[in-house]
This record gives sequence, C-alpha cells and structure tokens, in this order.
Amino acid sequence: MGRDNGTLLLKGKPVRDAVFAELSRLVAAAPRRPGLAVVLVGEDAASAVYVSHKEKGCDEVGFHHVTHRLPADTAQSELLALIGGLNADPAIDGILVQLPLPAHLDQAAVLLAVDPRKDVDGFHPENLGRLVAGSPRFVPCTPKGIVRLLEHYQVPVRGRTVAVIGRSVIVGRPLSLLLSLKGAMGDATVTMCHSRTPDLPRVCAAADIVVAAIGVPRFVTRDFVRAGAVVVDVGINRIDDPGHPKGTRLVGDADYEGLLGHAGALTPVPGGVGPMTIAMLLGNTWEAMSRVEGVHGRG
Ligand code: GUN
Repeated sequence: MGRDNGTLLLKGKPVRDAVFAELSRLVAAAPRRPGLAVVLVGEDAASAVYVSHKEKGCDEVGFHHVTHRLPADTAQSELLALIGGLNADPAIDGILVQLPLPAHLDQAAVLLAVDPRKDVDGFHPENLGRLVAGSPRFVPCTPKGIVRLLEHYQVPVRGRTVAVIGRSVIVGRPLSLLLSLKGAMGDATVTMCHSRTPDLPRVCAAADIVVAAIGVPRFVTRDFVRAGAVVVDVGINRIDDPGHPKGTRLVGDADYEGLLGHAGALTPVPGGVGPMTIAMLLGNTWEAMSRVEGVHGRG
C-alpha cells in the first residue's frame, strides 16, 4: 500500500477501477444499457470538466448517455420542461443536473422536479428524507464514495469519532448522516462542523477522522488533526503556482504536505475522493436501471 513519509495514501483510482470493471461486467449481461442524462447550464469551467469526466466514465463502462448543454440565461421554465422530458424518457435511468446553477435559477425547485427514481445524485428531498429515515435509496455520490474508500482501505468507522467540516447538501450533511447510520460502515459519532463552529481546530483535533469539505484551499493544517488521525480531503481548488509548468495546480482543502508524516492516512488531491464520486454516480445509474428491469448486482 502507498505511503508517503509514513502516512497511508487512500488512493481512489484502484477502487474506482474495480467498480468500473464490475459495472462493465454487469452491463455486458444486462437486458439493456443504463442511460444517464447530464444537464449543464452555463459556462462554469470546473463544471464543464466534471461533466466531461462523467461522459468519459459512461463510455468506459458502456452506458448510454446524453449531455444537455444549455446557455447561462436559460429560463427556469425551459429547464423544468427539459427535466420533465427526461423523467418521461424510458432510455434515461438517471438524471444529473450539474451544480451550481446560475443564480437566477431556483435550485431547490429544479432538484424537486427530477423524478426521485431517476435522482442518481440523491439530492431530491425524498431521497434525502430516506437517508435521514435510515432507509436510503440513492445516496449522494461523494459521501457514498468516501464510505466505499474507507471500507476498501479498512479504515474503521464504527465507534470512531468523525469531524465533518462543511454542511453542504452535496457532501457534508449527507456524509454526516451516512456515517451515523446503524451498520458496519456507520455507527460513528459525528460532529457536523461549519463556519460558525467555535474553536474549529480543537473540535477537529479531538476526532479520529477529519473530513475537509469547505472549499478553502489547504485550510486543514496539523492544528486540526491529532497525530495518527485519518484525513479525508474532499476539496478541489485551483491555485496559482508559478513553479508549475501550467502556472496553476490543484490542491485540496487539507494541507497535504504539512500533514504528511503526521496524519495516519490521507486522501490525495487529485486522485483520492474525486475518482470515487464518478464511480458512485455510475453505480447509482446502474441501480436505477436494475430497479426498473428487476436485475441485481452492485457496481
Ligand atoms: N457539483 C459538485 N459536485 C456535484 C455533484 O456531485 N453532483 C452535481 N449534480 N453537481 C455537483
């Protein structure tokens, strides 16, 4: 297993590859190909990159996919009409509306318009409600990917304390729920931290596992992490770096270099949580199709 200065690196790529291989195998024997529709509104550069990764992922495992690229000034009614058409399309099992949406659009109304049985992002209130109730259907992809990554590297969660920094509906809040559910990859005691948490470093340094999901480059330093604790870095931030050939580079929400030799285990950026998110999206799309067709198997 890969270590850097004594810290175990929780790399997503091998786990992602295993999930992709299993999905390819399942698709080859399926009654039809699962179909994913991605909706991208506007020109956000990072969103465009994420969407192209999703398209490539679908191609790699043999899923049918369509991407609807809409201009930034798309009206709410147009977007809702598109989602209505995708809800009714039998070739589409999963619908993903890339976030963030331009500010003039009502994000909550858009997420509510997606058929909950096709909501492979798990952001519809019905699916979030099921997660709260302890009987999840679609679990949001990044939290699900983090749990799968910890499971793969046999990082115990049961009975551990976890500090999650960031309360977004995409990562922090659903992850907190997931880790505190009853069961083998739950049973953790979770503290949901955010921008108003007093003395954040002290709260985090008491935890066995620290999850950085705040969108602030290299925010989580040694002060936040007990020696030997596990750090899950969900951030993807592009920063200026004159020493780099491109003049910029990607960093996470955790101070990777500062944590090496201090954290017991750490997810690298890129190559940690990121690859897991796409693998779980494809897994959710497989699940959506298999529910319709009555076939089984987990990606
Ligand atoms: N933007 C950043 N992460 C995500 C995600 O997991 N799903 C969607 N739809 N948008 C995102």
